Order: sequence, then structure tokens, then C-alpha cells
Amino acid sequence: MRHLRVPNKSVQAIIVLLKDNGLLSQEMRIFPDTDGEHRLIPLSENTPPILPSYLSQYEEVSKQGIHEERSTADWWAHLSSMVGEDTVSAHGDNWPSNHEFIGDIMIVRINEEVSSYRKEIASSKMASHPNVRIVMEDRGVQGKFRIRDLTPIAHRKNSEIVTGNIPGGSYDTRVMVRESGKSILCDPTKAYFSTKLQTERLETINLARELKELLGRPIRVCDPFCGVGPVLAKMVSEDDLASDVLATDLNPDAIEMLFDNLRRWDGRRYPKEPSPVERIYPDRIIGVADASVLSEIPGIANSWDLVIVNLPHRTIEMLPKLIPLLDMSSPSMVRGRVVVAESDIEDANRRIMTILPPLLPGYPSVELKVKRDYSSTLRLCSFEAWIAPLE
Ligand SMILES: C[S@@+](CC[C@H](N)C(=O)[O-])C[C@H]1O[C@@H](n2cnc3c(N)ncnc32)[C@H](O)[C@@H]1O
Repeated sequence: MRHLRVPNKSVQAIIVLLKDNGLLSQEMRIFPDTDGEHRLIPLSENTPPILPSYLSQYEEVSKQGIHEERSTADWWAHLSSMVGEDTVSAHGDNWPSNHEFIGDIMIVRINEEVSSYRKEIASSKMASHPNVRIVMEDRGVQGKFRIRDLTPIAHRKNSEIVTGNIPGGSYDTRVMVRESGKSILCDPTKAYFSTKLQTERLETINLARELKELLGRPIRVCDPFCGVGPVLAKMVSEDDLASDVLATDLNPDAIEMLFDNLRRWDGRRYPKEPSPVERIYPDRIIGVADASVLSEIPGIANSWDLVIVNLPHRTIEMLPKLIPLLDMSSPSMVRGRVVVAESDIEDANRRIMTILPPLLPGYPSVELKVKRDYSSTLRLCSFEAWIAPLE
């Protein structure tokens, strides 16, 4: 999340300035920087990519945001007033104290045990987060496009909170999300997108920078499960990081939004409608495609320095079909995410190593790093593999 790093003595004045201009985040907290002499002020999604001149003397930093506890306290207070304190304490940890924001949409998972209080939960969330436009219940990702099963449970209509049966068409689920100074168009009801992967994406960018350093030139990036393209936002915007980009996905809706995003990030024209993969510019291959047959398309195999594999349930199964995408004449990298049982992590490391070509000497071996729990037994992990060129 974007923060402004401000000396402690100037914090009050800057808060007033940001508030007046609608640039102060309502949801996140101001917190001290590690040096003890500065504070990090969370910026709202309205903050333009280039800071206004009255803020330009301050450094902008990207840091994990911390939720404003006042909103959390408010949510418990609203909930208690609706269902009663006894009911709140009877269900303890089953209440959804966490949620995810995608723009002004709040996404919340509701435990079966408290599902009969769906309306009260939605109203309390809305009342404690005045900037939220819709609350949607998340029943998990599903299907080959990995889209969340989302149901609207509350929305704001002329500043009234409406719960219950919300007719489709009475709300818009397309939103712009700000990340690393870029606007990402997404629609969580039509294509996969998660704001929680921001740190993962920043790690991928750092790895891309390392690969660029090693190769001594901008890299060619292949993102065959690109969704609406969040990792490309920074990749195509950073000077001399990526020369060529392939971005494909099986989901036409994701590609339609990717075109919209690329138009803004790249400053070039892209088709309005989703279309099968094609070379749209000499350095841009974009469109709908099944990653498992991508390398069979003329001109696509043996061409990429970095291949990103973001289909965590099927990464290991897909890997053999993706290896031919790598340009094996110089060092290259595979960056992937895998869902695996905690007890199978070592085995998964070994399986990945047997599928991949030999690794680059002097670089770390493949090691799945646990990023978070996926369920009580499964873990969501990521890895990077530095691949040696063929002799
Ligand atoms: C977990 S999502 C990741 C999307 C995106 N990279 C992101 O981080 O937001 C996986 C994506 O893979 C796409 N997908 C699933 N199977 C595919 C296939 N065989 N070929 C290409 N894309 C596929 C889905 O439509 C989905 O957008």
C-alpha cells in the first residue's frame, strides 16, 4: 500500500492537507517508521500516480498497510447493538473480523455457524466502513477461471444501507484498484484478482530486477495465467525492466480487462474485445490462450527469460508444458505458486526439481516457501527457480 513518509513534526499538518484533498486513507492506520523519526501515512486510492507538487518533498514508500482499529472497534459495536452482546460472545471467533477490500467493494467470508446473521454482519461492516459501496460474501474460488463465488449482501443506495435480496444490475462490480502507483481495473465477479497478493507481486518484481542485472539487459516476461495482469502493472511501467511481454489467460473477461489496463500502463492502443492470442505489437503477445498449448504456437517457444506460473492448484502438473517457453540460450527463471499439504512440501520440492532443467550453479535450489494457510492442512507456497542455459 502507498504511504507518505513524513517527519514526526510535520505529521499533523500533512494529515490536514491530505484530508482536505481526499488523499488520506480512511481504512488504514498511520504508524511509525523504523527510524522513529518519521511516520508512514496511508494514502487513499484517489491519490494520483505522481504525487501533487505540495507533497513532492516527501518520500513515497510501499508498505503493507495496517487496518484502522477504530473501524474494527466500530464494527464490533455495531454488531453488538444489532445482535446483542451475548450473541456476539457466544459465537466468539466465528464472527468474520477480517475482510478484503477490492476498491470500494468489501469481500467477507462468513462462517456457517454465524451465517444466519448475514444481514447484521453486512450492515455492521458497512456502518463501520463509510467508504464501502458493496459488501459481498465470498464462498471461495471455483471453476477453471478460479473466480470467487461472490454474492452481494449489502450495498449503499443514496447513503442508505440496503441488505437482503439485492437484484443483479443494481450495482457495479467493476472497480479500479491502486497498486504501486498504477490503477488496475478488475471485476472480482468475472476474473480472479486478489489484493492480498501485492507482496508476492513485489517479490516477483524484485526477482525480475535480479534477472535483468544478471543478463545485463531488459528481460522478456511470459505470464501465461495473467488474469487482469496485476504483476504486469509494475513490470511494463518500470524503465528498462521488461522488453517483451506475453500475457495470456483462458478467461476472455480477464483479457478484456487486461487490454483496458495495458492501454493505461503502456500508453498504446489495444483491442476493445477479448481476442485469441496474437502479436499485437512486436514486443507484446496478448490474448486468450490455454497455457498448456502455448508453446506449440509458432514464434512463442524458446523466447522468454521469466515465466510466471500462477495457477497454484495445477502448477506442478502444468510445468512440463511451460518449460519449452524458456529461452535456454541464457540463464532464465520460473516463478511459481503451489498449493500443497504441509507434509508434502519436501516431496513437492523434489518433484519440481525433477521437472525443471538443471539449475544455475551458485544460485539457491528450489525451495517452496509457505506464504499462508490455504486450509487446515494445505499451504499456499511460492518458489523461484534459476535455470542454467543449455551448454
Ligand atoms: C490464480 S489466477 C491468477 C491470475 C493473475 N495472475 C493474478 O495474480 O491475479 C489463475 C488464472 O489462470 C487462468 N487459467 C486457468 N487455467 C488456465 C489455462 N489452462 N491456461 C491459461 N490460463 C488459465 C484463470 O482464468 C485465472 O485467471
